[in-house]
Amino acid sequence: ARLVVLVSGSGTNLQAIMDAAADEAYGAHVVAVGADRDDIEGLARARRASIPTFVVKVPDFPTRKAWDEALHERIAAYGPDLVVSAGFMKILGPRVLESFPVVNTHPALLPAFPGAHAVPQALEYGVRVTGCTVHLVDAGVDTGPVIAQEPVAVEDGDDENSLHERIKVVERRLLVDVVGRMARHGWTLAGRHVRLGRSAG
Ligand code: GRF
Repeated sequence: ARLVVLVSGSGTNLQAIMDAAADEAYGAHVVAVGADRDDIEGLARARRASIPTFVVKVPDFPTRKAWDEALHERIAAYGPDLVVSAGFMKILGPRVLESFPVVNTHPALLPAFPGAHAVPQALEYGVRVTGCTVHLVDAGVDTGPVIAQEPVAVEDGDDENSLHERIKVVERRLLVDVVGRMARHGWTLAGRHVRLGRSAG
């Protein structure tokens, strides 16, 4: 399966998918990496692997709709079977969402702590368990149907960075597993319930 991965930062989730895709048996490979900004490690990771990249910045367009259209164009050029939002920090528009299935990874157990500050909000709230969620993207902010989740304990003395890094270790494994299974076996959606195809686990 052909993957387009969208990033906005360090791209460690992207790297995990690229590494997994080195094995033919994974069943998916990254055909392009898109970003909403320049000069991020995520783009550098793609370039080092000779994977095409594109940047589509919101301020470069007169309207959000124009940005959505432009992003759709750039993604469509690569004919993806699945788009993976891995730390992409913009809300995707209807043109993109009606054209491709999009999977997102979020560093909290949705519906808890949606949005761009999930990790500090979990710390602030004082939860003892948080985690990560892989979900299908819908028009809302982190509101799409859940595909997979895994808990991560909050430890005494955690700060945002230590907790996020611990979550990201789990998140990368969960995302790689889900994307691979979707690529190899497909999935069905009934209401808010995603069922991955023939699954090993
Ligand atoms: C991930 O935890 C993602 O869920 C969140 O930002 C982080 C991105 O990490 N939105 P990376 O860019 O994949 O390293």
